[in-house]
Amino acid sequence: MTTPLVELTHVHVVHKARSGGLLTRDHVHALTAADLTVEPGETVGVVGESGCGKSTLAKVLVGVQKPTTGTVTHRGADLWTMPPAARRTALGTGIGMIYQDPSTALNRRLTVRQIVRDPMDVHHRGTRPERDDRVRELLGLVGLPKSLADVLPGQLSGGQRQRVAIARALALEPDLVVADEPTSALDVSVRAQILNLLLDLKERLGLALVFVSHDIRTVRRMSDRVITMYLGRIVEEAPAAVLDRARHPYTRALFSATPGLLDPIDPIPLAGPVPSATRPPSGCPFRTRCWRADDVCAAAMPDPEGGAATGGHVFRCHHPVREDRTTHDLVREASPG
Ligand SMILES: Nc1ncnc2c1ncn2[C@@H]1O[C@H](COP(=O)(O)OP(=O)(O)OP(=O)(O)O)[C@@H](O)[C@H]1O
Ligand code: SF4
Ligand SMILES: [Mg+2]
Repeated sequence: MTTPLVELTHVHVVHKARSGGLLTRDHVHALTAADLTVEPGETVGVVGESGCGKSTLAKVLVGVQKPTTGTVTHRGADLWTMPPAARRTALGTGIGMIYQDPSTALNRRLTVRQIVRDPMDVHHRGTRPERDDRVRELLGLVGLPKSLADVLPGQLSGGQRQRVAIARALALEPDLVVADEPTSALDVSVRAQILNLLLDLKERLGLALVFVSHDIRTVRRMSDRVITMYLGRIVEEAPAAVLDRARHPYTRALFSATPGLLDPIDPIPLAGPVPSATRPPSGCPFRTRCWRADDVCAAAMPDPEGGAATGGHVFRCHHPVREDRTTHDLVREASPG
């Protein structure tokens, strides 16, 4: 067994509600009881509807968000009990983060060279000429011409800016890169290029990658393992190869609504909207929309089932879908009347 790069144990993130006035005590349950490990070299995809906690999970992994409760370990060391200087070093050198929108993630006043060199300056890596060499190497790695080293981000296209962000994330040779919707702010025409670049770099550098996206097809294509989130909870964790046989009703519904996977699209109908993260339902959070819900689902959150015996396929559901049920079967089962 290798030591996981990152391990979350029972992590909760609770925010004070943004809309709450002085007298309200609303809390947003952004992440609830999350358990997750990321092993060296693997790609973990994260899917779920808007607001389900994907970015919160990503921020906890890279140490930008401190858990309200629970532990985060990096290579076996507890991140939030170590001295702040040690934490900064562990995070700064071990993990790279790529954000959704490269136009806001890059400092507009710095040149490409300064942006890419910044992590090496902060962590005192090498001599000045060595850092400049490394910048040239990194620009080559992400497919940017050296001539762009002295321009400002504002002079670059969206795709080029995201390449700069990737170069910066790789500057200190991290073992893990976390990418939160790295292509959703880009033109459709350059999305595939950036994704292929990430996959290529991952292979060449042996990185682990955590990849958050709304685009389920892409997540499925890129990932070894896919995590489904719903209302702050990780409800299923499945090897990409078994997603067609996912056991959680929500995973099945989410994938059934993805254009292009099934032809024609045959979405499993769900009742009503996603509940508010300030007042998650009792028991299973999906029960207000799940066609299989009953009183048992309202009474208690299901325990995780599966694990090592099922190749790491874990789900939390009192009435899981049988593996051999097709989307068609489930559409019929979930349709009223
Ligand atoms: N700083 C904050 N203060 C209050 N609430 C927050 C804060 N950050 C996130 N939230 C809330 O926490 C929940 C999870 O947010 P998060 O950004 O992790 O979702 P997401 O899955 O990334 O959504 P999206 O797909 O839209 O990016 C949401 O209800 C969000 O409104
Ligand atoms: S526990 Fe119940 S409500 Fe939740 S997903 Fe399973 S069947 Fe649906
Ligand atoms: Mg997000």
